[in-house]
Amino acid sequence: MVDNATRLHYLAAMGIDVWMSKAALPESQPLVAEQTPTITPENWQSLQAEVAECKACGLCETRKNTVFGAGNQQAEWLFIGEGPGQHEDEQGEPFVGKAGLLLTEMIRAMGLAREEVFITNIVKCRPPDNRDPHKDEISACQPYLQRQIQLIQPKIILAVGRIAAQTLLATDAPVSRLRGQVHQLNNIPLVVVYHPAYLLRSLLEKRKAWQDLQLAMQTLDRVST
Ligand code: URA
Repeated sequence: MVDNATRLHYLAAMGIDVWMSKAALPESQPLVAEQTPTITPENWQSLQAEVAECKACGLCETRKNTVFGAGNQQAEWLFIGEGPGQHEDEQGEPFVGKAGLLLTEMIRAMGLAREEVFITNIVKCRPPDNRDPHKDEISACQPYLQRQIQLIQPKIILAVGRIAAQTLLATDAPVSRLRGQVHQLNNIPLVVVYHPAYLLRSLLEKRKAWQDLQLAMQTLDRVST
């Protein structure tokens, strides 16, 4: 765990003034997403091996590496982004580029270490030229994410950015409407947060991102007590 002074330091690095009023946070408005089919629990390594060999969609032809995800397999926190970019594709690790550095700062600002949480993506292979993943690519990859969720059994999910939020909640609504409330994904609370790549371009939204992270922290406190 990170002490308060360190947390304030990371918040300052994110360009965020600390703002702690719980009263200003919106009330939870649960929204139930489609149920995922029940899958028998599988060994983590065999799932990893399956992803590494995957040829279920065309992204396998242009990828350098699959990006399974990284972190604690028994994490309370599951962060789900969109898909690997160039650096992630080269290194086989999620969120290692500029956006990844900001995500790491956001995690630290929450008093957590990156190794304590699990970070993965909606699609495990890089869409060429960093385009959005297509619907068929998302569908082909979805069983892997479902199994990751079943194996990790996180206490809370953070949908990082539009593609993750819209896919997980089966909606076309913009992030501006999905953030600021607690959704449910198969009885797991889910909070939507702006993607760090977007925050790097829209510094004014960082405050809202911090409010969403606080909402997630409060939600986890509620479900853990
Ligand atoms: N953006 C994402 O959504 N995921 C990554 O792993 C890297 C950048």
